[in-house]
Amino acid sequence: MNYFYITGTSRGIGRAIAEKLLENDSNIVIGISRRQTINHERYRHVVFDLNMIEAVQAYDFDRYDDADKIVLINNSGVLGDVNHIGKMSSQNMVQSYNVNLIAPAILINSFMDAYAESNAEKMIINISSGAARHTVNSWSTYCSTKAGLEMFTQVLEGEIQEAKRNDVKVFSIAPGIIDTEMQSEIRAVPDEQFSSKDKFVQLKQNNELTSPGAVAEKMADVIAHPENYPNTVMDFRD
Ligand SMILES: NC(=O)c1ccc[n+]([C@@H]2O[C@H](COP(=O)([O-])OP(=O)(O)OC[C@H]3O[C@@H](n4cnc5c(N)ncnc54)[C@H](OP(=O)(O)O)[C@@H]3O)[C@@H](O)[C@H]2O)c1
Repeated sequence: MNYFYITGTSRGIGRAIAEKLLENDSNIVIGISRRQTINHERYRHVVFDLNMIEAVQAYDFDRYDDADKIVLINNSGVLGDVNHIGKMSSQNMVQSYNVNLIAPAILINSFMDAYAESNAEKMIINISSGAARHTVNSWSTYCSTKAGLEMFTQVLEGEIQEAKRNDVKVFSIAPGIIDTEMQSEIRAVPDEQFSSKDKFVQLKQNNELTSPGAVAEKMADVIAHPENYPNTVMDFRD
């Protein structure tokens, strides 16, 4: 069997990836988020708020005797305050760093520990963003958390190479601009707080957003054929 731990399966990209993977009878999906929206015989949900860092630290991955492949997809993410530095809520900053960077980093560490002796093929996919790689004014928290997780992924890749391990694959994938609630949130930001807002409004009006289902199709191909994807850092738009 193949086991997939996916954060943020209640909607958007995470839900589409979970539903795509559940099409395969050999796959079991364990979804992690505050709300459960998927019901399926091979789906289990862990109700979890990734902002509760002590609970994230205590989370223990299940051990499996029959696992061919075990995958962690860190997909949960929040945009956080879209505003200029000096005008953000410090409480919201803490929560965004927790959900986007600290919780995924802790989960990766726990995953690598839990399955260190497992013979299964292991894979970690972190959902990144173009905003990890270039600055966007008013997105300081989002850019920096995504950049931090991308660097964490690259250090892990370096350690895997150093140890000459071929049982673990890691990826940091920017999915493109996807038609989800997160995009609705971007378009709802007051104009004066976000100078690039019009670009996102135009993309929606011109039907230029990618569907979550299309991202899920590409993700399923990466999972099935990682040998075809030699780069740790990827952008699905390339
Ligand atoms: N949409 C885009 O254009 C785009 C572009 C680049 C990258 N991304 C990235 O893709 C990922 C998915 O984004 P999306 O567009 O699908 O967003 P979305 O529709 O807003 O969904 C976000 C998911 O994250 C989960 N989440 C949020 N806060 C959480 C918390 N405190 N604890 C646990 N889970 C939490 C939500 O689950 P609950 O509310 O049930 O907890 C939800 O399932 C994110 O990492 C995002 O940064 C999106």
